[in-house]
Amino acid sequence: MTLNAALDITYVVDALVPHSSHRVRTYYERAGGKGINVSSVLAALDVPTVVTGLMGGATGELIQDGLRRAGLRDELVPMWSESRRTVTIVSRADGDATVFNTPGAEVGPAVWAGFTARFAELAREATVVVLSGSLPPGLPADAYATLVRLSSQAGTATVLDTSGPALLAALPAGPTLIKPNAAELTEATGEQDVAAAAESLRRLGARTVVASRGTEGLYVATPRGTWQAAPPRPVSGNPTGAGDACVAALAAGLHYGTPWQQILAEAVALSAAAVACPTAGQVDKAVYEEFRTTVSVERTHAPRAH
Ligand SMILES: Nc1ncnc2c1ncn2[C@@H]1O[C@H](COP(=O)(O)OP(=O)(O)OP(=O)(O)O)[C@@H](O)[C@H]1O
Ligand SMILES: [Mg+2]
Repeated sequence: MTLNAALDITYVVDALVPHSSHRVRTYYERAGGKGINVSSVLAALDVPTVVTGLMGGATGELIQDGLRRAGLRDELVPMWSESRRTVTIVSRADGDATVFNTPGAEVGPAVWAGFTARFAELAREATVVVLSGSLPPGLPADAYATLVRLSSQAGTATVLDTSGPALLAALPAGPTLIKPNAAELTEATGEQDVAAAAESLRRLGARTVVASRGTEGLYVATPRGTWQAAPPRPVSGNPTGAGDACVAALAAGLHYGTPWQQILAEAVALSAAAVACPTAGQVDKAVYEEFRTTVSVERTHAPRAH
């Protein structure tokens, strides 16, 4: 689910030079937003997935066209305002990506009420709900808490990937898993130490915390102990969307009931495979196959009593 779904536009240029004009070598336009990236990666793994969130206006229709082209089941709910667009400039010289995000239009109470009703129905069909990205303006700060509770009532696990106040306000609802990156972890807790920060988010209500640490891989705190997983080497490419691929692997692991050790190896391999692809939501199968057998996973603590 992506409340703030977007039309993602990517320009590939030789090198990005401010104050100059550029010849665009390649141009992509696709349905974007973090939850949609997660669904794209799940579809690449043949895991059945449904896309929901909000869409509006002509840009919303282009997002829906993108979902159709990608073969994703579209359950976006209409809103009155126009969907947003994001622009990413990829520089071929260094593989660097420069991203421009617009906040999205205001969502009113009537649209939110309609959305939560549809969401509750979809949650009953699902084994895992992934809640990804920022909240559009106009929604209550505890919007994610509401969605986590509706999912729990449906007997469905939740994976929450958001940051700041939207993340903190959702924790009392008890999400099954959250996936902050290093900066989001520090922002939410004021802690520099990953293990201490993860533990404090668990105390606030998250059952499992998967902290993603860029090229250093993952640190995971679960009710049954903690693990660390790292890629065998860093991959160059576009790191935007690596976290979404990681979330896709975590959701697939919860869906299949895979043991943690294996979920983490898959998550590190799949997110490295996403870095190797220029477009968020896609994965490089060769990198995925190579990494899933070479990721190092180690347990960092004995099981805890609670
Ligand atoms: N250059 C890289 N090489 C290999 N693996 C990487 C690289 N960058 C990221 N990863 C993998 O991707 C995971 C997620 O990356 P990161 O911590 O940057 O997520 P994020 O900031 O949430 O990304 P997103 O832009 O999708 O929100 C990391 O934990 C790591 O396993
Ligand atoms: Mg992220």
